[in-house]
Amino acid sequence: MAELVPVEPFDIVVFGATGDLALRKLIPALFHRWCDGQITDDSRIVAASREPMAQEAFRELASTHIFDNGNVTDARRKAWAAFSERLNYVDLDASGEGEGWARLKDALDPDDDKIRLYYLALPPSIYGSVCAGLARQGLNTPNARIVLEKPIGSNYHTARAINDKVGEVFNENNIFRIDHYLGKETVQNLLILRFANYLFEPMWNANGIDHVQITVAETLGAGKRASYYDRSGALRDMVQNHLLQLACLVAMEPPESLEADSVRTEKLKVLKALRPVTPASVANDVVRGQYQAGAIGGETVPGYAEEVGTDTETETFVAIRAQVDNWRWAGVPFYMRTGKRMASRRSEIIVQFKQIPHDIVGAAKGALHPNRLVIRLQPDEGVKLMLMTKDPGPGGLRLRYVPLNLSYAEHFEANYPDAYERLLMAVVRGNLSLFMRRDEVEAAWRWVDGIIHAWDESQAKLYGYQAGTDGPTPSALMLAREDREWFDAISY
Ligand code: BG6
Repeated sequence: MAELVPVEPFDIVVFGATGDLALRKLIPALFHRWCDGQITDDSRIVAASREPMAQEAFRELASTHIFDNGNVTDARRKAWAAFSERLNYVDLDASGEGEGWARLKDALDPDDDKIRLYYLALPPSIYGSVCAGLARQGLNTPNARIVLEKPIGSNYHTARAINDKVGEVFNENNIFRIDHYLGKETVQNLLILRFANYLFEPMWNANGIDHVQITVAETLGAGKRASYYDRSGALRDMVQNHLLQLACLVAMEPPESLEADSVRTEKLKVLKALRPVTPASVANDVVRGQYQAGAIGGETVPGYAEEVGTDTETETFVAIRAQVDNWRWAGVPFYMRTGKRMASRRSEIIVQFKQIPHDIVGAAKGALHPNRLVIRLQPDEGVKLMLMTKDPGPGGLRLRYVPLNLSYAEHFEANYPDAYERLLMAVVRGNLSLFMRRDEVEAAWRWVDGIIHAWDESQAKLYGYQAGTDGPTPSALMLAREDREWFDAISY
């Protein structure tokens, strides 16, 4: 097992502590890091929210969220009592001036040099006022770090306004903009796979690669988050951040080092090189869809509009044919898609290499497939490199397409920290490389704003797709037009 190095003592305030993100991800992440000894006992955890609630009631609420998912060992269940004593609840309206601030100060270590994390699990529209409140209270101490959840704004202009406001209080080096995909094990491994192996880089370009596919498919619907989701849609909720970050890691030039600004500068160049989608190109290059009633895993599920309770034009699926206009990627399409209520939960990056230039074996012996690198983010994390081999045995020369398979479950200890656990520890360590810099977020919005504008201008059609499928038919047609297909039905 990898050695876990405790982080320096810190205090964290989770604002929005009674919300879904805090209860499902953040408090559990802190609990598990504490159980593993990575958070030492001189750290303080403060949960803050507007709701007046007794200390015990909050601890109870938090424990239900941790233990009801069933994956927690008995040892961890026993550890809860000791952890929960460290979990303090403070009711505070963080966007206002009330007396809650005094309660918060009391809950924090008076040592102003201690590392402090303020995690804003709040609507982005109040990030600015919360930062102003922290400043008024003198809580922006020298080692204070602010952690911002996505989405930062809903377009380029609102993102800039938020970044400006936060920037008035915190220096860019103390601002940690979370994209939890950057905390996923396999996503971090992407840089290592590309840049710690010699094998791929010489052909990682338009000469060696035919195209790239990035899929983030979910089986869940909008569910309880429908009121947020309906204002956002798949493009803003998933593409602007997660999918574009994945595309950046695939497409970026080698950074000088893993140092934060080296990596982030290279990612920014990719975002700037994305060919803008225009009203003239949008119908060809972008497909938007919305799920209708269907069945997933044998269970009937309602359509999106029914879940939201009204007719709505919000997309729950989007497929994009993107181009990175630079020397390395000229002519190589990056097909990206994401959707809710799809056939299976699956996130992966597929790099399809080019076909060999000359076939020496002849078609009669079996189909010759180009090499393919499959990076599976979830579930069943792993990397597969598809190769042509000879089918062993007598009976003539037959070809087989088989994987060189690196399954994480088989090769490594399966129980590694989840993305939020890793990212929270990275904030304490001050490691900015796993977080988005201001200019990255804004560049991603600029590109996405282009698509939204093109949709509006062209009154883009919203295609229905049945829940439990791979999205609307035009998504498949987008690739079929170019003699390609999404690699869904193909088993590896
Ligand atoms: C979030 C989106 O950022 O990512 C959600 O807001 C989505 O809509 C989630 O469900 C997916 O994350 P994961 O880690 O389950 O793939």
